[in-house]
Amino acid sequence: MNILVTGGAGYIGSVLVFELLKLGHNVVVLDNFMYGQDSLLDCCIFHNFRVIRGDARDERLLGNLLKDADLIIPLAALVGAPKCDRDKIGTITVNRDAVMSLVKLASPQQRIIMPTTNSGYGIGQKGIYCTEETPLNPITLYGKVKVEAEKIVLDRKNSISFRLATTFGVSPRMRIDLLVNDFTYRAVKDRFVVVFESHVKRNYIHVRDVARVFIFAIDNFDKLKDQPYNVGLSDANISKWELCAKIKEQVPDFVYLESAVGEDPDKRDYIVSNEKIEKNGFKPIYSLEMGIAELIKAYTMLSNSRYGNV
Ligand SMILES: NC(=O)c1ccc[n+]([C@@H]2O[C@H](COP(=O)([O-])OP(=O)(O)OC[C@H]3O[C@@H](n4cnc5c(N)ncnc54)[C@H](O)[C@@H]3O)[C@@H](O)[C@H]2O)c1
Repeated sequence: MNILVTGGAGYIGSVLVFELLKLGHNVVVLDNFMYGQDSLLDCCIFHNFRVIRGDARDERLLGNLLKDADLIIPLAALVGAPKCDRDKIGTITVNRDAVMSLVKLASPQQRIIMPTTNSGYGIGQKGIYCTEETPLNPITLYGKVKVEAEKIVLDRKNSISFRLATTFGVSPRMRIDLLVNDFTYRAVKDRFVVVFESHVKRNYIHVRDVARVFIFAIDNFDKLKDQPYNVGLSDANISKWELCAKIKEQVPDFVYLESAVGEDPDKRDYIVSNEKIEKNGFKPIYSLEMGIAELIKAYTMLSNSRYGNV
């Protein structure tokens, strides 16, 4: 297939693109490399890889790149609640309007598979699993704009939306701001963390399982199309406190304390059912424990020490 991936140099994209290339797909990545990332260097050896430095909002560029695409995977976005609050206009124009442009310019035959966030569920009801039928109630600008983008994509048909849990694990474009990656980083580097709103529950998924679910969707497109699917680890609907305990199993001298003050800007608190995608035949293979073990190895190499001799 000819596949256009916007934002393909990001945390998810740089894992996914490598796998797509290995499978023999022709992949074009459009990314503005806003983090100065060199995450696609390993892809350059593939003759079926093309990379464009540009803006996903540039309709003229999109129009040209769309000409040969069978499938579009829009990943370009400002990602995460704090980042979006710092650049609201960027969030709306990249996360929603650029998706609108793609939908406008693509032919009905061209397929779209897009990730959105399961933070669209906002604050769930205690003990009740959020399914794809649960009304969406996004709280942050990031969540709200993602929900709008999902509607745009699903309304055009011939599209699939994946409501992803919080991803974790190692990627060539590393993100240590994601919850599991962040707490494991603190455990390895600082040996302690002070947790606020420690009871808050979330669902998690390994970045390699995210790549796998996209490939699963390519192979099963007609069966899955025109619907949203939750994608997360069904045995990992756990609180921040429980997550710390899991990290401590592998970093025994990790100390975590509860704080009575402090608020998560993200606000989400829910448990999620991933039964729909599982019933269609997709099962994640990377556990939280495997991801934590992988992160501990990675953090032996990585250090956020630009301004200090540590
Ligand atoms: N990682 C998660 O936990 C998670 C969960 C749910 C959904 N998602 C979605 O998956 C997608 C990728 O997320 P990620 O975690 O890989 O984030 P990321 O920040 O690592 O990747 C985003 C990529 O988009 C690029 N980009 C940003 N603005 C651009 C622009 N104007 N033009 C071209 N490229 C631009 C960035 O350079 C980066 O490579 C996003 O749409 C995000 O909302 C991620």
